[in-house]
Amino acid sequence: MSHAEDHEGTRRDFLYYATAGAGAVAAGAAVWPLINQMNPSADVQALSSIRVDVGGLSEGTQLTVQWLGKPVFIRRRNAADIESARSVDLSELPDPIARNANIQGDVPATDENRTLDEAGEWLVMMGVCTHLGCVPINEAGDFDGWFCPCHGSHYDASGRIRRGPAPENLPVPVAEFADDATIVLG
Ligand code: FES
Repeated sequence: MSHAEDHEGTRRDFLYYATAGAGAVAAGAAVWPLINQMNPSADVQALSSIRVDVGGLSEGTQLTVQWLGKPVFIRRRNAADIESARSVDLSELPDPIARNANIQGDVPATDENRTLDEAGEWLVMMGVCTHLGCVPINEAGDFDGWFCPCHGSHYDASGRIRRGPAPENLPVPVAEFADDATIVLG
């Protein structure tokens, strides 16, 4: 490969990643007016906590919001997602720890230890690759989950790292349901 081709490839890659990042930010920004509308007292709450309206999220889709300057993926999983995530043999996981801020201690990375609800319909996690911080792409990669194009990390339907340089599962932040249609982050 010539230097010129090499340079062009690098530039294309940069544009691709930059675009992916901007998309995630735009998706998050679109949610803010709704959050403010749903929660008029948000300005007097601690900035570290936000409410997200997930009432309009259909099965098998994902909402990305910005929280503490970082993207958070909120996925309402369908039956296929749940089956894929819960049928994994834990011995196949590079990172055996759940990485769930809602559970004390280093509990095993079962799907049940990562989802927000017992049935496993809701998965909330930071949308930041644990390798060097890129934003993984949804419904991509070889494990029915997310793919980080920066250096090729594959995450499964539970957000657990399965292949590539990322050392840890995507972390689950402090989160809970305030009501049927509202998730509170932080
Ligand atoms: S930042 Fe995701 S694989 Fe390197």
